[in-house]
Amino acid sequence: MRIKADLAGLAALVAPNQLLTSPLELLTYEADASLDRGAPDAVVLPRRTEEVARVVRWAGAAGVPVIARGAGTGLSGGAVAEHGGLILAFSRMNQILEFDEIGRSVVVQPGVVNLVLDEHVKTRGLYFPPDPASGRTATIGGNIAENAGGPHCFKYGVTTNYITGLEVVLADGTVVRLGGRAVDTPEYDLVGLMTGNEGTLGIITEASARLLRDAPAIMTALAAFDSVEAAGRAVSAVIKRGLVPATMEMMDRKIMGILEDYAHARLPVHAGAALIIEADGYEGSVAPQMDEIAAILSEHDAREIRIAQTAEERDRIWYGRKSAAGAMARLAPAYYLVDGTVPRSVLAATLAEINAVVEAADLRVGYVFHAGDGNLHPFILIPDPADPALMARVLAVGHDVMRICVEKGGSITGEHGVGSEKRHYMPLMYAYDELDVMQQIKDVFDPGRLLNPGKIFPKEWPAPLARQPLAVPPSSPYAPQTAQHAGEAVRAWVAAGRRITIEGGGTKAAARQETDIILSTAQLCGIRNCSVDDLVVTAGAGTRLADLQAELARDGMWVPLASPWAASTLGGIVAANFNAPLRMRYGNVRDILLAGSAVLPDGRVIRAGRPVVKNVAGYDLPKLFVGSYGTLGLLADVSLKLAPLPRARESLIVPLDSVQEGMRWGRVLLRVCLVASALVLCSGSCVPRVSAPYALIYTAEGMPEDVAAEMAQAEAVLRAAGAHPSRQSEAPSGSELWAEWLGAAGPALTVRAGVAPKDMARLVAAVAPSVPNAAFFADIASGQLFTRGVPVETTRAAALPLGGYAVVVRGAAGVSDRWGYRPESLDVMLALKRRLDPAGLFNPGAFIV
Ligand code: LAC
Ligand code: ZN
Repeated sequence: MRIKADLAGLAALVAPNQLLTSPLELLTYEADASLDRGAPDAVVLPRRTEEVARVVRWAGAAGVPVIARGAGTGLSGGAVAEHGGLILAFSRMNQILEFDEIGRSVVVQPGVVNLVLDEHVKTRGLYFPPDPASGRTATIGGNIAENAGGPHCFKYGVTTNYITGLEVVLADGTVVRLGGRAVDTPEYDLVGLMTGNEGTLGIITEASARLLRDAPAIMTALAAFDSVEAAGRAVSAVIKRGLVPATMEMMDRKIMGILEDYAHARLPVHAGAALIIEADGYEGSVAPQMDEIAAILSEHDAREIRIAQTAEERDRIWYGRKSAAGAMARLAPAYYLVDGTVPRSVLAATLAEINAVVEAADLRVGYVFHAGDGNLHPFILIPDPADPALMARVLAVGHDVMRICVEKGGSITGEHGVGSEKRHYMPLMYAYDELDVMQQIKDVFDPGRLLNPGKIFPKEWPAPLARQPLAVPPSSPYAPQTAQHAGEAVRAWVAAGRRITIEGGGTKAAARQETDIILSTAQLCGIRNCSVDDLVVTAGAGTRLADLQAELARDGMWVPLASPWAASTLGGIVAANFNAPLRMRYGNVRDILLAGSAVLPDGRVIRAGRPVVKNVAGYDLPKLFVGSYGTLGLLADVSLKLAPLPRARESLIVPLDSVQEGMRWGRVLLRVCLVASALVLCSGSCVPRVSAPYALIYTAEGMPEDVAAEMAQAEAVLRAAGAHPSRQSEAPSGSELWAEWLGAAGPALTVRAGVAPKDMARLVAAVAPSVPNAAFFADIASGQLFTRGVPVETTRAAALPLGGYAVVVRGAAGVSDRWGYRPESLDVMLALKRRLDPAGLFNPGAFIV
């Protein structure tokens, strides 16, 4: 149904040159880069958040749809106004508002183009890792709305892994700040939910993003294979050996021919397939990495391996690869670009099946893949989009590809989004309850359904599952063995109005009310599935982290998480969002959790997420369970990202006379860190063989050559600054010291404070003098400060004015108020909680209510 907008009121809200209404001007906004079309009634070009809020309020009152748009490079119809309405185009909100070189972050408006951001931050040796092929024109706002990926996600992750804070205009025109520049803001992870929301939950008007340091050296290789299957096997072999190339991209012969004509990158056009593989790191590390990779590729039937000799040659390869869409566009009036993900290990088998389907349909297709991510893109050429029989064949093949991806345990979209193009495939992937939870979330944010209406959700839903209620609910305490059993019990208890408390390892149990039923994760234990090829392990939420690590170590793998407490369970770590300094190298808990079986507060059991690194089909539900203390549901099992055990690890220890000295040297080190896994400051008494009052510990890990180079560099910059570091390969790592320090706290009140890393010196300077016996531990790189035995109010008084937070993580709380401030998102958090748990029976008192 098309809603014709009455535009009279709108003209009064913005300047005339910010409003486009003539059919000619609107034409540009009818399409994105997909096949879908739809004419908006008007386009507004806002310059400020208040204008967005004003326009959204007007649209809400007038019942007019609002569609946010970046550069229109999306590939699923996400920015298309299929029901008419108003497009908010962000091309004029394109400022980089802040750039913090030392803390490695930026604050940007949504209209900043990827390339512009890159050019800006690279002058300081930094970059924003997500690199969609469209990055020459795509905008950060669009990246966030779609949770964009790109070729370097295998090593560095996708957009959501880099966004820490958002300013969002909600459907009623309210402006809220979610998250911030500190990591792990202790609220529901609405930043994670908003990332990938495709404009359906709110309008993003500002974002805080993390950056990484540019690797000093990159080596790029092109390896030719006889077939895509052979290349797929080689990719798995590289992963199995514990190597983490910066990228592993595949192209088939057809696409190479097309790209070569376009970009002249000297692609091996006569081979069946080629891989682009990159190793990055320090100068001394990339050649040995590449030698090892090349040896594996050769063992796996690579016919020819060519290393790019110059930066120009490398740029040309990437120009070619990233021009796939443009090059295809020259060959036919239209193309259909399919996007799906499968677990990497089944890439070759998936391709064989897809090929059979395509050949049977007699279509011309070329393939590019982000092979390291299991993310594949068949490009189907459409010589005549007006030919209905041809279009039907194209779409039928698209459908089959989606079905095959889902059957293989993957997703209907890895990075292009659902939009309008793929909404009818959502039931292939999700059961009724999973779609229903997404719809409930949508309705909390946008009850009038005016934000990008019609997107993501299918028109036809699968049938709801019929359930028999349990005649007799289990008695308390109950330790179910499966998510299904837990769900049945929860349904029965909720029907009887009983209150339910979740019990995990009990290591961080804070404020808790006496309730009727104890639901324990004790029997939700053990590894359910571990695939080293796919770098994913699925284990019961009640599994202890220590037990999991011991199992994984046999395969040379680990989950890059750490806990001070032997009894810590996976579910507890996720629910409390508690993590060690190693996060500076490996990411936050939210970046490591890929999927989980969740028992919702009403007993519905859903699969949240999928065990693949790229999945943007619908809302990113796993984020709801990170740091929400089981108040939105119980994760019965979790799928976590694996990493190879680092081959080398070394620490530098710097004795300090004062905290100020440590913070100064910390800044010096933040400029050089590349493979560092900790930069922490603590009492000298925590560190073996240190007699000074304080100590700074800098740990690096990874390839031996990288570690050696980083240690040498860190030592050199510290000595130049006047410090006296000692380098010790046997020294405990920063994360080990952190774990020891926290583990020794016993029942003492332990507080965690977070600020933007740039403000860490101020936070530490303000708090340290009031901490008795130097009972604090500062994770400088992540902007986290832990204190022991210090009232939370003391730390809060310093953290809040810096835009940070301080919360009790362990011990007798005695705090009446969780945050000491009123989160701007509180109403949304409460609405979400009420929607999923109307009677407030599920883990009451554990978090916001
Ligand atoms: C690519 C885009 C189409 O990978 O996702 O080229
Ligand atoms: Zn892609």
